[in-house]
Amino acid sequence: MESNAPQSDHQPPTCCGEKRRGLVKGLLAAAIGGFVALFPFVPGLLVVTSPLRKKRKLGGQMIRITTLGALAGSKQPRRFQVIASRRDAWNKYPPEPIAGVYLAPQGEGKPPRAFSVTCPHLGCAVDYNGDTDEYQCPCHTSAFASGGETLYGPSPRGLDELAVEIRGEDEVWIDYKRFEVGKSKRIEISS
Ligand code: FES
Repeated sequence: MESNAPQSDHQPPTCCGEKRRGLVKGLLAAAIGGFVALFPFVPGLLVVTSPLRKKRKLGGQMIRITTLGALAGSKQPRRFQVIASRRDAWNKYPPEPIAGVYLAPQGEGKPPRAFSVTCPHLGCAVDYNGDTDEYQCPCHTSAFASGGETLYGPSPRGLDELAVEIRGEDEVWIDYKRFEVGKSKRIEISS
């Protein structure tokens, strides 16, 4: 049986498709709005965090240790503190001991040699033994000759020698650096 109801060619609106498009548009607008709102703060954020992004070396600075006069009359290495100002990302702190160094006299009129006290094996502090003329590590028994070479033990390299400079009449300065431990090659530490 045929229906007498009028036929309409008008399609009902697709409710879900339009809703979805509206939602996507809204999210896009919110994302763009958020980005635009953040934009003025980006330069400030970069300034505030810039100290964290700078690569700084802990060492690599000339530090005064003592005078030649203080070493006169001694043939054996003597241990000194390395005193320097520490910095973190935002602050500079007052000078304080940051490491130790042995200064080994080389004869009158000659600058001493400087060796870091840090054992290259795992970082313990070595002691100089005047009886055997050796530097000895108390942690795993590495031993080093007076010239810094490894004599025995697990240390993968000899003691780290630091450059020495005599300034003025007799001031002894060293180029203080730190190196990674446990490596056969000297790799300077940055932070
Ligand atoms: S830390 Fe010196 S021998 Fe291990």
